[in-house]
Amino acid sequence: MPYRRCGRSGLKLPPISLGLWHNFGDEQPLEEQRAVLRHAFDRGITHFDLANNYGPPAGSAETNFGRVMREDLRPWRDELIVSTKAGYDMWPGPYGEWGSRKYLLASLDQSLARMGLDYVDIFYSHRFDPDTPLEETMGALDTAVRSGRALYAGISSYSGVRTEEAARIMRELGTPLLIHQPSYSLLNRWIEEDLLDVLGQEGIGAIVFSPLAQGMLTDKYLDGIPAGSRAAEGRFLTPDMLDEQTLTHVRALNELARDRGQSLAQMAIAWTLRDPRVTSALVGARNVTQLDDSLGALERLEFTDEELDAIDAHAVEAGINLWKASSDG
Ligand SMILES: NC(=O)c1ccc[n+]([C@@H]2O[C@H](COP(=O)([O-])OP(=O)(O)OC[C@H]3O[C@@H](n4cnc5c(N)ncnc54)[C@H](OP(=O)(O)O)[C@@H]3O)[C@@H](O)[C@H]2O)c1
Repeated sequence: MPYRRCGRSGLKLPPISLGLWHNFGDEQPLEEQRAVLRHAFDRGITHFDLANNYGPPAGSAETNFGRVMREDLRPWRDELIVSTKAGYDMWPGPYGEWGSRKYLLASLDQSLARMGLDYVDIFYSHRFDPDTPLEETMGALDTAVRSGRALYAGISSYSGVRTEEAARIMRELGTPLLIHQPSYSLLNRWIEEDLLDVLGQEGIGAIVFSPLAQGMLTDKYLDGIPAGSRAAEGRFLTPDMLDEQTLTHVRALNELARDRGQSLAQMAIAWTLRDPRVTSALVGARNVTQLDDSLGALERLEFTDEELDAIDAHAVEAGINLWKASSDG
């Protein structure tokens, strides 16, 4: 695995990391979850990404991960980077979401209990909170690190401007921001506007999520919506996102991938990694077969200028950035 340095930190991450947003809740048999996690680690994926609300139900992905951690992965804790986040709705009342100190630190304690861990490697503010002073949210991340509950701090889906502010506050507190987790894919290129420049200047790494646009950038939807797919579930990837115009671009990208001797999923992942400011592509996987296909991206990461030009014609905004409200805040 060709590990990559995260910004200007001392931490290296795998170019492909595994997220547990989907497929690790109580609806998925534990043995399948265990198989994917074990296979990922065997193949050199040292980074697993969670959040308080992953499931369903919310919290169950951490509980299930904690069980696999306890039963299978415990001896390798020091070879693993485990992250979690707080920001979205987690429990009732005024202290169960957004960016207050009260919520972030209580949520982190709950996450540690669910996972059976003493600490996480990275703790994130999951989204920007326009109603809480950024000093308070960043102060909570700093406390998380100073108290030993987290080794590093990160932010997710913050705009370029908010990221600059957050980086300044954290630098002054003495706990530099390690990483930013934004959405990014061939169909969702918002980070190219200014965020990547900010991250490069600040020395913060980027781990880009949904590089397959939740599965849209695979061959899965070229001829309709197959049963059992995320679009068939229709919770976060809804059939209206797969409109004919977008599918025309996806089909063209599929041809370009074939010309490169890759699957579309592999080309989509490799493309997000073409910029050295992107440390890792954070994928999801329903099973071991999907994960292996995605890992095949590492066999051909480089692009010619001609290939990039041809891709640019079809790598167009598709209106699929569900996390835009946070980065607009
Ligand atoms: N910070 C945030 O706000 C935030 C938001 C979203 C995600 N994330 C993180 O990013 C991670 C990845 O997100 P994501 O699951 O949306 O990423 P993704 O990699 O874009 O999509 C994963 C889905 O694509 C399909 N897939 C994956 N590999 C495939 C392959 N090789 N061939 C065909 N289909 C394939 C599967 O869909 P099917 O289930 O349909 O088979 C899979 O569930 C999350 O788990 C989470 O850790 C963070």
